[in-house]
Amino acid sequence: MNSDNDPAPRITACPDGPLLVRGDIELVSGTGEDIPRRRKTIALCRCGASTIKPYCDGTHKLIKFTTNSAD
Ligand code: FES
Repeated sequence: MNSDNDPAPRITACPDGPLLVRGDIELVSGTGEDIPRRRKTIALCRCGASTIKPYCDGTHKLIKFTTNSAD
């Protein structure tokens, strides 16, 4: 839930990397359970190779994950 002092949530697709999520959002699993956040800004894996999904662990660099420039 946003307060008046919080900026609107923002998701940034990093070239050849994760989705950076900034702002106050709820992160929920596929079964509807809350996934705890430890930081205000989080990186979500979009390469599929992270060992700590849904978070990015940097493995995208090891597997040379690439995205289209428009992603
Ligand atoms: S995007 Fe970083 S490990 Fe998948």
